[in-house]
Amino acid sequence: MGKRMEGKVVLVSGAGSIGSGWGNGKASAVLFAREGGKVFAVDRNLNSARVTQTIIENEGGRCLAYEADVTDPESVDAMVNQCCQEFGQVDVLYNNVGAALAGGIMELDEAAWDDQMNVNLKHVFLVTRKVIAQMLRFKGGSIINIGSTSGLTFTGQQQIAYQTAKAAISRFSQSVALEFASRGIRCNTVIPGQMDTPMVHAYLAGQQTGGDVEALISKRNARIPMGFMGTAWDVANAVVFLASDEARYVTGAEIVVDGGMTLKCTSE
Ligand SMILES: NC(=O)c1ccc[n+]([C@@H]2O[C@H](COP(=O)([O-])OP(=O)(O)OC[C@H]3O[C@@H](n4cnc5c(N)ncnc54)[C@H](O)[C@@H]3O)[C@@H](O)[C@H]2O)c1
Repeated sequence: MGKRMEGKVVLVSGAGSIGSGWGNGKASAVLFAREGGKVFAVDRNLNSARVTQTIIENEGGRCLAYEADVTDPESVDAMVNQCCQEFGQVDVLYNNVGAALAGGIMELDEAAWDDQMNVNLKHVFLVTRKVIAQMLRFKGGSIINIGSTSGLTFTGQQQIAYQTAKAAISRFSQSVALEFASRGIRCNTVIPGQMDTPMVHAYLAGQQTGGDVEALISKRNARIPMGFMGTAWDVANAVVFLASDEARYVTGAEIVVDGGMTLKCTSE
């Protein structure tokens, strides 16, 4: 166990995982706890958050699983209030929820577009404003939002709503960083590339290679100069660094965790 999060309360959204293995929120929640943080592990799938809680408790850490839909304002209010009631405050917020949908502008209907905006962007606004209101009472905090290389460049699959929402995450983080820099609140973005998380198996293969997971993994590996997909732990290491006092002078920044993928002109 490290000490970088000693005494800090960390709210992680999407702290479960869509399938077995390590999703980005799940790995980060576990790493936050290993560093001494008290983790409020939020997921709309309570059982999934409970798996994370059990892992943390079995390692001797502190975690509470909580069910909330972060796209719903009432659910967000109740979630933050409950975290403060259980742990006193929120020092670190990790807005990790997100989901990609394949499709270009002529393939997506309005409902699909709205769903993508809600699950990838609107919740970041809802949760951040609620948490900032109480961070100001404690004179500071750190917020980390999750973007995607799909928000930076074309990464091999048309996902117009996801690409748009993830691009906006970076700008949102910078705006928050600037507005609250003088009041002790930092806000940064972690931008993962092609990570080998349960999402790849649960639905990306269905959307992109007709359900052939091995074909999708080969395709994803081939896009990356380093030659292999990253893991949720690569993302978690960047997230925990940004949350920690090691990053006390870092705000409005982006850490791209992609094995060099976005350095190439083409992703194919
Ligand atoms: N896996 C990748 O290659 C990759 C790449 C770039 C960015 N990302 C981003 O990383 C984040 C996490 O991805 P992951 O691969 O770990 O996914 P995941 O699907 O395994 O985990 C997401 C979790 O969020 C929960 N969730 C979804 N909607 C929710 C809601 N409205 N309220 C509360 N919880 C909700 C799900 O139940 C799930 O447990 C996403 O924002 C994704 O866009 C992933």
